Amino acid sequence: MSAARRALVLGGATGLVGQSLTRILREAGFDVLAASRADFNPASKDAVERAVDAFRPDFICNTVAYTAVDLAESEPDQAAALNKALPAMLGRLCRDKGVGLIHYSTDFVFDGKKNAPYLETDQPNPRSVYGKTKLAGERALLELALGNLYILRTAWLFGPGKNNFVSKILGLAKERPALNVVHDQRGSPTYSADLARYTLALIEAASPGLYHVVNSGRASWCELTAEAVAVAGLDCRVEAITTDKYPLPAKRPAYSVLDTAKFTAATGVTPRPWVQALRDYVYRDLNLGLE
Ligand SMILES: NC(=O)c1ccc[n+]([C@@H]2O[C@H](COP(=O)([O-])OP(=O)(O)OC[C@H]3O[C@@H](n4cnc5c(N)ncnc54)[C@H](OP(=O)(O)O)[C@@H]3O)[C@@H](O)[C@H]2O)c1
Repeated sequence: MSAARRALVLGGATGLVGQSLTRILREAGFDVLAASRADFNPASKDAVERAVDAFRPDFICNTVAYTAVDLAESEPDQAAALNKALPAMLGRLCRDKGVGLIHYSTDFVFDGKKNAPYLETDQPNPRSVYGKTKLAGERALLELALGNLYILRTAWLFGPGKNNFVSKILGLAKERPALNVVHDQRGSPTYSADLARYTLALIEAASPGLYHVVNSGRASWCELTAEAVAVAGLDCRVEAITTDKYPLPAKRPAYSVLDTAKFTAATGVTPRPWVQALRDYVYRDLNLGLE
């Protein structure tokens, strides 16, 4: 019997993507070391190198990021340290140790001026510090020309194990008779468990590269909210507002739907619709809507 493949999942113990990825890789027979900041500092080269030398992973999966999109506007150095310097350090380490690297990025690398799904070949033009630092992380990795590098741009995540847009909105919908939600930003809502399955599909296809990986379909934040409230069976009115009625520090793209044709060509997998995935999340993970 061949030895189990090993993956070091940075952020695997606490992150939204990290927790789903850890579960899906373990179910697929991987030996996974799910690391949190309590285990070691993922931004410390020495600490990560010690973990790599001890665990000898086939892959490092980097789910660690500075994901506070609005706070990043006032903390650009902290955002750059996690979103650019950390992946660059991991890339060099993976190159030196002959380890594969799976890294996540975001739809917020785009400016939203397109009105058809974004391809991997479309020119990024981020509008926020978060988007700029994530793009800088991608570029730092691509410059290294690693043989076994996967960069997965994903978007609008919901899933178990950590608060997210859908869990927060459902919490509010339980308490309030009505919610006003932005309707003039459209994107690709995505279930973290599906993202983890699709990550595994790319690993199995042994097809490194830059990919857009999201559930299919598109929605505004308002449409996502209305669907989640309906699926959960909550009695809350959902009203559409425009972005200027809900000003936030970071600018977001008005349109950031991602095209997944390259992912499907590599894996043979067509991502399922976000509406279907949302039902799994609400019914199975949150245990809502079925009573
Ligand atoms: N969430 C989304 O909607 C979304 C959309 C597009 C792209 N992405 C990308 O997907 C990837 C995963 O995102 P996610 O939503 O899973 O992120 P997340 O839940 O916010 O998790 C990030 C992980 O990074 C860790 N972390 C953050 N700051 C740290 C620090 N200073 N030192 C050590 N660890 C730190 C967190 O640990 P703690 O739990 O201890 O804080 C957590 O494990 C990221 O690359 C993100 O840019 C996410």
